[in-house]
Amino acid sequence: MKIRLMILLLPGLMGLTGCGNPQDVTTSVDQPTALSQALPIGRWYSQAQISRGNPLFQEHCASCHKPDASGTPNWRETNVEGKYPPPPLNGTAHTWHHPLSVLRRTVSVGGVPLGGTMPGFSDRLNAQQIDDILAWVQSHWSDEIYRIWHDRNAQANKQLRPINNG
Ligand code: HEC
Repeated sequence: MKIRLMILLLPGLMGLTGCGNPQDVTTSVDQPTALSQALPIGRWYSQAQISRGNPLFQEHCASCHKPDASGTPNWRETNVEGKYPPPPLNGTAHTWHHPLSVLRRTVSVGGVPLGGTMPGFSDRLNAQQIDDILAWVQSHWSDEIYRIWHDRNAQANKQLRPINNG
């Protein structure tokens, strides 16, 4: 009897722990990191870009991704049409898996070509505005997340062309 109960309970328990999984990449923006960790690396964007990006994000992106870029809590689950909801862009989902080139393209052409639903913005936003928005988005990422993204981005750039070490 006991075993049977466990079997019934297990999927529920697994669901509970699985769902909150973005724990490994929490929203803990200002949490103290390990002493052994090196100093935060410099970001590619300026404070001015963050400031310009904020109102642009509110105008074009916030309706889906939320004004604070927190997106949809259950962003891993598809809806009845098999489509994904707007994910958080604040570093808690997997936006940091994508190099800058991919992030730019996503905003520019949207997700429709890949079977998603996000509209493209190339007709409304120029390259500088897209970069300003991405600067604002990334300003929500912890130093830890940014570092991981930075390394992946450098890796991706290496594969494309010689790095412009600006
Ligand atoms: C109509 C709703 C909608 C709007 C408006 C919208 N998005 Fe999205 N966005 C989505 C959805 C839904 C996805 C998931 C992929 C898909 O379905 O295309 C997504 C995915 C993304 C991704 C990829 C995230 C990841 O983790 O892979 C980025 C980056 C992004 N959006 C940025 C933006 C930015 C920046 C804007 C404003 C310029 C914006 N989005 C406007 C709905 C939207």
